[in-house]
Amino acid sequence: MNLEQLNKVAAAMTAPGRGILAADESTGTIGKRFDAIGVPSTPDNRRDYREMLFRSSEAMSKYIAGVILYDETIRQNAKDGTPLVKLIEKAGSLPGIKVDKGTKLLPFCPGEVITEGLDGLRERLVEYRGLGAKFAKWRAVIDIGERHVVPSYAAVAANAQALARYAALCQDETIVPIVEPEVLMDGGHDIDRCAEVTQWVLKETFHTLFLNRVALEGMVLKPNMVVPGKKSAKRASVDEVAEKTLRVLKASVPAAVPGIAFLSGGQSDEAATAHLDAMHRAGGLPWRLSFSYGRALQHAPQTVWAGKPENVAAAQRAFNHRAMMNGLATLGQWQADLERKAA
Ligand code: 13P
Repeated sequence: MNLEQLNKVAAAMTAPGRGILAADESTGTIGKRFDAIGVPSTPDNRRDYREMLFRSSEAMSKYIAGVILYDETIRQNAKDGTPLVKLIEKAGSLPGIKVDKGTKLLPFCPGEVITEGLDGLRERLVEYRGLGAKFAKWRAVIDIGERHVVPSYAAVAANAQALARYAALCQDETIVPIVEPEVLMDGGHDIDRCAEVTQWVLKETFHTLFLNRVALEGMVLKPNMVVPGKKSAKRASVDEVAEKTLRVLKASVPAAVPGIAFLSGGQSDEAATAHLDAMHRAGGLPWRLSFSYGRALQHAPQTVWAGKPENVAAAQRAFNHRAMMNGLATLGQWQADLERKAA
């Protein structure tokens, strides 16, 4: 393992002022996003859309430290024949790759899932490294249901085990693992229940990473924020989310981890930005704290684009704007006024 190299990449992925664009939607997920804007999900349309993002020069060069790609995208060329990976590199950003193969139902644990994709992973990592990937992502999914039932220990432990085996393989192949144990914000639970489950999942994950000899200095954690479930009547203020998220992270994530990059998980664009900003304003953070957003970076440009070439410049402006807002949030310098001025 080349820990010096891994640590350098992990630090670059979460450099102050910058974060990660999660553009690794599977063909099924990007299909749903395209349905919503009335665009047929063909390989060319997926390529055109992602090329548009990667050619957004302001966002990519100033605010996007890394891009998570899907298997199809890491192999695709831009319209002019340049590999998409080269566009990302030319902008000064790092290409990464989603390597999990999605979730399957976990037997005897109704409604719970396990992420698959360990078989043949070492060989795939070697190939992806050859295609330019400097880091990888694996997403585990934990749901919150009835107390003492969901999540089950079986689901938390099995997913932690898969994350740790993936992370060890990545490090052995000199690829920085993004370790993503996502506690979903679906459901009617309140913020304190989210805090309790998130802390459990993170503690189990770090214990299992330790048993599998994963070097914390050479990874990036991608957690959910601590928020109430979408259907909960009890909403939480920006300060409460920031305070409870930081409390859980400080109690569970060793300071040896160079960087944490949140997922947006279905929060509104502005909430995802405001929460990150509030955590930086609180100060005293032992790790770099940044973003690795999919929806909260792409929803705005996707809607503006709507599959029409004449909308590309406006969609790129929308993407630049969200990237800049989140970049400012990683410095505690975002202000709600900046959103209204842009609107
Ligand atoms: P969202 O920000 O849309 O949650 O996506 C991030 C991601 O990569 C989930 O795996």
